[in-house]
Amino acid sequence: MNDFTYYSPTKFVFGREVADRIGPEMAAAGFGKVMVVYGGGSAERSGLLARVRSSLEQAGIAFVEKGGVRPNPEVNWVRDAIALARAEGVEGLLAVGGGSVIDASKATAFGIPYEGDVWDFFAKKQPIESCLPIAVVLTIPAAGSEASGSCVISNDAENLKLGVAGDVFRPKLAIMDPTLTFTLPAYQTAAGVTDMIAHVCERYFSGVGAVPVTDNIAAAIICALLEAGPRALEQTDDYDARATIMWSGMLAHNDLAGCGRSLNPTARAGGWESHGLEHELSAHYPEIAHGAGLAVIMPAWMRYVWRSDPERFLLFASDVFGIEPAFEECESTEEAIEDAVTAAIDELQAFFQSLGMPKTLGDFGLTPDDVDALIDTLRLSKGEAFGAFQKLTMDDARAIYLSAF
Ligand code: NZQ
Ligand code: ZN
Repeated sequence: MNDFTYYSPTKFVFGREVADRIGPEMAAAGFGKVMVVYGGGSAERSGLLARVRSSLEQAGIAFVEKGGVRPNPEVNWVRDAIALARAEGVEGLLAVGGGSVIDASKATAFGIPYEGDVWDFFAKKQPIESCLPIAVVLTIPAAGSEASGSCVISNDAENLKLGVAGDVFRPKLAIMDPTLTFTLPAYQTAAGVTDMIAHVCERYFSGVGAVPVTDNIAAAIICALLEAGPRALEQTDDYDARATIMWSGMLAHNDLAGCGRSLNPTARAGGWESHGLEHELSAHYPEIAHGAGLAVIMPAWMRYVWRSDPERFLLFASDVFGIEPAFEECESTEEAIEDAVTAAIDELQAFFQSLGMPKTLGDFGLTPDDVDALIDTLRLSKGEAFGAFQKLTMDDARAIYLSAF
């Protein structure tokens, strides 16, 4: 087990109707005047925003509001929010939504104390040193941003979507009420489950050998999702399925599922290859849900790289899908291993499809001619090579994209 730093400062309040506790919980945590951030309207339509306003008022927490965060949030929204927050003397952020709303809130929270342009952080011109406190009422389990040390923002003018990492902007408080997710469309539920599995896999396939305690946690999260995902789709108000998915999404990305798997004791485990490749998709095509992009990219990446460490993929096949190599029935050891690994990747991809996720880049309307533009911005985001499980050059990245048609 490699050395690691695990920091998860978030207080989680989890369960039925806990959304109504946001006011007292924020007051107890010492929040002053906050900006309530939300997305395109789902939180208003469901009545959640009315409940949040009432709870804040009763707890004596002053607030201003800013909605309209789009999926795959954009830096101009953040710039406007920073200006409004400064004018209003905001002292903290309350994100009511999912990854997009939380990330827009995070960027606003560390943009407010900084005099320059908030994009400087994403362009890596400036380290993030201070940040206003952030609370979350989670409405879609997926990105894990409610406890993660990452924040991803798009810049449409530059066709870029870049992430920053840091502990300073991990939320202080996360209200997690699975009943809020009963209204989620099937597609968003499925994209969320896919993203969670990807978060576990990015750490699992990190180029480090077995770390049994962490590997078992990882397999357990994925197995729980394989079971709960279809149940939530079958019956949208299945509380236990929704609760399992919501908690799994947090566990998948607060770094618990990577402890001991990083080569750098202060950095997150994994090379985040599939995320790197996917972020170019949702940067160029903001209408592509991040999880849906991963459903296509991750199996393609797996098929391309598994030979770098077949043992790792065999452990995954066994622990997640109960697939073992049939040495006796195959002509060679290599064939038995390839069959088992391929069967596991096929199972994973078939699971994503069974949830309604796409299988190919063509399903998004892309053609192979679109790949060059993805590579151009991938090079800007990642340099000439990136990854941990297997270093990927831009030629490798191109081959993976093309294999996904
Ligand atoms: O905007 P509204 O109207 O609220 O609708 C949203 C949105 O259209 C809808 N929705 C949310 N809760 C709902 C609901 N609809 C009905 N009922 C509810 N209870 O769902 C849609 C998607 O929301 P979004 O926040 O975009 O989804 P998600 O949580 O998947 O976030 C995706 C973003 O997070 C980034 C992604 O790249 C993407 O930009 N990520 C952030 C990470 C992080 N900060 O740690 C890690 C991830 O890997 C990811 O990159
Ligand atoms: Zn993700």
